[in-house]
Amino acid sequence: MTYNNILVEENNGITTITINRPNKLNALNKQTIEELHDALKEEVADKDTKVIIITGSGEKAFVAGADISEFANFNVEEGTKLAAKGQTMLFDFIENLSKPVIAAVNGFALGGGLELAMACHFRIASDNAKMGLPEVSLGVIPGYGGTQRLPQLIGKGRAMELIMTAGMIDANQALNYGLVNHVTTQGELMPHCEKIAHKISNNSMVAIGAAIKAINANFKDGVDGFAVEIQEFGNCFGTDDFTEGTSAFLQKRKANFSGK
Ligand code: COA
Repeated sequence: MTYNNILVEENNGITTITINRPNKLNALNKQTIEELHDALKEEVADKDTKVIIITGSGEKAFVAGADISEFANFNVEEGTKLAAKGQTMLFDFIENLSKPVIAAVNGFALGGGLELAMACHFRIASDNAKMGLPEVSLGVIPGYGGTQRLPQLIGKGRAMELIMTAGMIDANQALNYGLVNHVTTQGELMPHCEKIAHKISNNSMVAIGAAIKAINANFKDGVDGFAVEIQEFGNCFGTDDFTEGTSAFLQKRKANFSGK
């Protein structure tokens, strides 16, 4: 598939999706959200892709937010639809993807940009990154899951302060808060993400998909995460990867997983 606003590159089982609107600091307009959804759907179906990295083009921004020019004239109904559609099409979709998605935060991650990074399974930032949810400075609140995922990741009090002040934190503060897992130089960001992605890709992808499902269950209302873990644990015993992983261990060799 060809895209106008994103670049997709696969290398050695790792697919990098780059949001490519540098003149607009990679702001998420409707088309970019749709393209990201389509590309992710395609990568889930692609046997060659084991891990996905999402980043922004240029040296300044990961994503500077939802595209303000697109919703500035919206009414109540349109605003509600914008958030509902975006959450379903992209943010919830990423969080529940069966393949690991890493956010490589290479600069500003504001509003929808930070919400995108938070929907990813974990985040790595370069030392120039700046993160925040400045929506209240525009008279609105985060609508792509920010009010839910930020407190999950950094705690309620910190999330309240960051959202109420419309403030920004730098990469080291984000590391301190647990919002990102690692901070690198700008030059080291992609190699570092690829190194972790490579380490992930040596493991059973079917087991990783099950782990994502079980971990996410902890954050879903009305779902018993322990029960989901038991179910997913049991299902693993019926997979080729389980037979291969346990046999390889007992035979003192490296496992060669088929992902089935
Ligand atoms: N939506 C639409 N366009 C955006 C945008 C967004 N969220 N963020 C940046 N842009 C555009 C700017 O309008 C500008 O376009 P132009 O050159 O056609 O005027 C271009 O990207 C460059 O941004 P600029 O503001 O000139 O860069 P800067 O270095 O002075 O400031 C930021 C960088 C990130 C501080 C500033 O762009 C900003 O505050 N952006 C909005 C952040 C935000 O509120 N996000 C939440 C949205 S819900």
